[in-house]
Amino acid sequence: MFVHLSSVDSTNAEAKRRIVRGEGAHADTILADEQTQGRGRRDHTWLSPLGNLYFSLIVTPRLQEAAWAGYSLLSAVILSRVLGSIVDPLRLSFKWPNDVLIDERKVSGLLIEALHYEGQPFLIIGVGMNVLHHPGDSDFPATSLAACGAGDILPERILQRFMAEFDVLWQAFQIEGFAVFYRRIEEQLYGRNKKVRLALSEERQVEGICRGIDKEGQLLLEDENGVRRAYASGDVLAMRPRF
Ligand code: BTN
Repeated sequence: MFVHLSSVDSTNAEAKRRIVRGEGAHADTILADEQTQGRGRRDHTWLSPLGNLYFSLIVTPRLQEAAWAGYSLLSAVILSRVLGSIVDPLRLSFKWPNDVLIDERKVSGLLIEALHYEGQPFLIIGVGMNVLHHPGDSDFPATSLAACGAGDILPERILQRFMAEFDVLWQAFQIEGFAVFYRRIEEQLYGRNKKVRLALSEERQVEGICRGIDKEGQLLLEDENGVRRAYASGDVLAMRPRF
C-alpha cells in the first residue's frame, strides 16, 4: 500500500498507528509533503517544511533481532545508491550508523523503529532527505540537494528510486546478509582512519581512530594504546579542523 499525505505529524508515527490497527504490511510506504512533528534520532526534532522528502517504509524483518542493525546499514546503502544517481557518487559518504553525506555535510538521515503486533515484528524505516531546504544550525553541518546544485528532482521521484533499489537489495540482504554491501560502507565511511568522537549518549562521548566497521556493522575505534573496541550504537560527531 502506498499512502501520500499532504501533512502529518510524523510518517513514522502514522506507520505505527497503521500497524497497531492491523493495517501494516511489508513494503507499505507512507509519504508526506510536510511533517508537523518530524522526529530524528536521539529525540531530536527533524524540521520538515514543504519541499523535502519524508517517508516511512514498513518492513517485516526475516532475520533474528540480533541482526537487525544490518537493516539500518542496508537502508543507508540504498539511500547512497539513490543519491549516487542524483549527484556524483564520489561526493558521497556514510556517517555511521546511517547518515548519508554530500561533501561531508548531512543530506539524509534515517530513524528506524521496531514494534511488535500480534507476535509479528515490524520495522519502520523513516527517511528524511533535504531536497530544497536544510537546517542552518544543526549539530552536524547540513546541506540539501538544491545547495549541491541538484534540487530539480521531485521528492516522489526520489522515493520511486528508493523503492526500486529496495526491491533488489532487500532480496540480496536476506540471502547474503551484510556481506553484500560491507565493502561499500567501508570505502565511503566518514572519518575512516581519522580521529573521531562518538556520542554514546547525551552525557557520554569517546574518542578514537576510526578503523571502519566489523562484520556485524559495529563501529571500530582504536584508542591511544592501539586497542580496538566495537560500538553497536552511538553517533559520530563532526570532526574538528584540528583533527
Ligand atoms: C536523523 O538523522 O536524526 C533521522 C531523521 C529521520 C527523519 C525522518 S522524516 C520521515 C520519518 N518521520 C519522522 O518523524 N522521522 C523520519
